[in-house]
Amino acid sequence: MATQTPSDKAGSSSDRVVIFDTTLRDGEQCPGATMTHEEKLEVAELLDTMGVDIIEAGFPIASEGDFAAVNEIAKRAKNAVICGLSRAAPKDIDRCAEAIKPARRNRIHTFLSTSPVHMKYKLQKEPHEVYEMVIAQVTRARSHTDDVEWSSEDGTRTEIDFLCRCVEAAIKAGATTINIPDTVGYTTPEEYMRLFETVRQRVPNSDKAVFSTHCHNDLGMAVANSLAGVRGGARQIECTINGIGERAGNAALEEIVMAIKTRNDVFPYTTGIDATMLTRASKLVSAATSFPVQYNKAIVGRNAFAHESGIHQDGMLKNAQTYEIMTPESVGVKQTSLVMGKHSGRHAFQHKLAELGYQLSDNQLQDAFVRFKALADRKKQIYDEDIEALVDEEIATAHDRVKIVSLTVIAGTMGPQTATLTVDIDGKHVTQQSVGNGPVDAIFNAIHAIVPHEAKLDLYQVHAVTEGTDAQAEVSVRLSAEGRSFTAKGADPDTLVASAKAYLGALNKMTSRRGKVPGVEKRIHANEGI
Ligand code: KIV
Ligand code: ZN
Repeated sequence: MATQTPSDKAGSSSDRVVIFDTTLRDGEQCPGATMTHEEKLEVAELLDTMGVDIIEAGFPIASEGDFAAVNEIAKRAKNAVICGLSRAAPKDIDRCAEAIKPARRNRIHTFLSTSPVHMKYKLQKEPHEVYEMVIAQVTRARSHTDDVEWSSEDGTRTEIDFLCRCVEAAIKAGATTINIPDTVGYTTPEEYMRLFETVRQRVPNSDKAVFSTHCHNDLGMAVANSLAGVRGGARQIECTINGIGERAGNAALEEIVMAIKTRNDVFPYTTGIDATMLTRASKLVSAATSFPVQYNKAIVGRNAFAHESGIHQDGMLKNAQTYEIMTPESVGVKQTSLVMGKHSGRHAFQHKLAELGYQLSDNQLQDAFVRFKALADRKKQIYDEDIEALVDEEIATAHDRVKIVSLTVIAGTMGPQTATLTVDIDGKHVTQQSVGNGPVDAIFNAIHAIVPHEAKLDLYQVHAVTEGTDAQAEVSVRLSAEGRSFTAKGADPDTLVASAKAYLGALNKMTSRRGKVPGVEKRIHANEGI
């Protein structure tokens, strides 16, 4: 039976919690999680289908690329409200309004810091100036749309009297949602619940707005804090798929949805999310960002439903409820049944992908199947992990302009280590031979010669996808340039080929953001006829 706490009674009368997904804004903002335009559209489409109420699609003033993505998502969304973020400046708000305009339903999310430390050092403004800015930003946003969210950045470290005054002013100016973010992941569940209770009790017009949580995970309490905020009367939760986001990330959408579903006796609320799509969403976001999901991650980690110890396995065989509080099927994990090999056909491959939680377009499926067949010819046993690595790569490289065609490497004790690399750039082949201090260095030098760039290599990491000497290597590469990082993965039974793929993947992400591949025209002409 659902128990009501005093806070619940004081809260909104509705049990429905609005899910506001910010994977494409706060999630994508974190170092290395950059997505290409097409990847953002794919993620948005999935969020829209799975029942997310509001999609924060980006920060339109940040770049032309951000604007274009928000604008395109606004055109395509079928169900969700499409939201864009803006600071307090009029030009920010106007640009945001322009980006979200095509959406059937849109929202401007405008924010301003209210804590003493942010006002003094970041904004260099007095509280009375900030107060006036709140009124001005919400008024401006309301001139574009009647769905306006105002956030008090660093809300949990804001002085309570000032917070209440700003919230009251924002609602009076027309804000329909009030978000109180725990920007630095500092609060605790009890404290956050009380904060919502206090603000809602003290602000006279609080019943005119929906209150929202936005929690960062610096102390590992983002999900607990978000749920406590709801108990304090909030009815919107801001979260991201896989919990990606600044620093330690944001509250994870899948954990919130499943906590509400599984412990509905404690959290007597509902969301509009189709939980059976959680696994697919997790895989898509992981592939698009090249951010791995930790094996023991709640709900969507590879081990989330694995039972290894004898005692647990014995219990599970007698009755699954002994060690399982929710079923794998309830989050979209199908029981994997098919063993894949070189004789497996297209239909079986498609079935396996569905079991693993993937849904590919026809073109992607066709390409992935060709790759699968090539892999099956080279490798005796194909594990689910092999297929996951292959499909992740397919998703991540589908729109790449620079692709590997062939690679020959001379390595070993004699040296000089030499790489001869041919890549396809927009349909034309370019070949380069380079030497290096080791084979990987030679390959990266060849890529550098073909696509000259300033990016710094921040990370080069190799791991085996499965066991055995014929296992695929999965290489991660992170490049950084102009204050942004770009991560990509490459998988292949040959570690050097995987390295080339990963480096090219990160470079493709970087150039897709800039819209051009540096030095490419010159290179293509110089190589014509090779
Ligand atoms: O963490 C934060 O405060 C934010 C705001 C922009 C809402 O992301
Ligand atoms: Zn945030």
